[in-house]
Amino acid sequence: MAAKYVDLWATNSGGISMAYMVTGGTGFIGSWVVKAIMDQGHKVVCFEGFPNAETHPIVLGDRADEVTVVNGDLLHLHRIVEVIQKYEITHIAHIAAATLRVCEANPPYAMQVNVTGMTNMLEACRMTGIKKMAWASSAGIFGGSYFGEAIANDARVSPPSIYAGSKVLGENLSEHYFTRYGVDSIGMRYTFVNGHGMPNSLGGKMIDNLCYNPAQGKPGQVPWGEDSPDWLWGYDAGRATIMALDAPTTKSRAFNICGDNAKVADAVDYVRSLIPDADLTVDSGKMGFSELDGSVAEAEFGYRPETTMEMAMKLHINQGRKLGGLPPLD
Ligand SMILES: NC(=O)c1ccc[n+]([C@@H]2O[C@H](COP(=O)([O-])OP(=O)(O)OC[C@H]3O[C@@H](n4cnc5c(N)ncnc54)[C@H](O)[C@@H]3O)[C@@H](O)[C@H]2O)c1
Repeated sequence: MAAKYVDLWATNSGGISMAYMVTGGTGFIGSWVVKAIMDQGHKVVCFEGFPNAETHPIVLGDRADEVTVVNGDLLHLHRIVEVIQKYEITHIAHIAAATLRVCEANPPYAMQVNVTGMTNMLEACRMTGIKKMAWASSAGIFGGSYFGEAIANDARVSPPSIYAGSKVLGENLSEHYFTRYGVDSIGMRYTFVNGHGMPNSLGGKMIDNLCYNPAQGKPGQVPWGEDSPDWLWGYDAGRATIMALDAPTTKSRAFNICGDNAKVADAVDYVRSLIPDADLTVDSGKMGFSELDGSVAEAEFGYRPETTMEMAMKLHINQGRKLGGLPPLD
């Protein structure tokens, strides 16, 4: 079932006091954030520039129909304020952004979405008195230069791209709005988010080759064989976001949000242990992932990942088998 792109608020009201808005809430991570918020019993409104009808049914299953999706552009401050007021929003997960691919293809547009859009979100929080906003920063702000050590929460940033630079600017804006205006917003530096509904991105293609293809008896060519990603399962990213939103004001303004750091080679070995005849070729090279230290997020709002790399691989494989009409592995 697809989400309804109309105003269903009247029929969805369930006597629950707090309403959460998720920008980019029909995208990949946004859908997992929506799931985690719904699991806490809160109402959710997705504020979407480019509504995606495919991801909610994959991530939310039968509950996809319960979500209200409204059209809106981050570049239109008045529209953001209008939606916040109409739906009596108290908390915001600001997940929408121009992702790496858009930043590379169209830097001027991407900077508008990521920097002006972020400023508009903060300004809307200030104008409407939003209790808290958690927003999608990225582990990419640290660049690929830290190897052999877990990157501390307060490590020096070294953004290697327009995309990462826009996230650093977002962190600066968040800090500014907090100290000047008391707007409580915190950055979630997600690592390598993986889960059902991944887009056709570099990461999505990697999981296709590593898990979906062998799950369906097809060959897979796995990139970045020398790398060690921090595998952050989508639901853990969502859990971290709702935990941050519901926490009292934190000391830090941005947090490393980790999953399970493990080598690509170990993931390949694990997939082969589950599917002994898996036809996998592993490329050499690195994407440039780094291990992050997530202890500050744990200390300040209690987030710890629950999904190991092995659990994630098995979930992906069983999803691949389901799509291929095959029974799950035990
Ligand atoms: N995927 C990862 O591993 C990862 C890691 C770290 C951070 N992030 C960040 O997480 C967020 C979500 O990434 P994703 O992988 O789910 O991408 P995605 O492309 O699936 O989702 C992005 C969403 O933003 C919306 N959007 C884009 N421009 C908009 C605009 N002008 N107005 C309103 N909505 C707009 C799109 O409609 C889409 O739903 C992004 O901010 C990204 O930078 C992703």
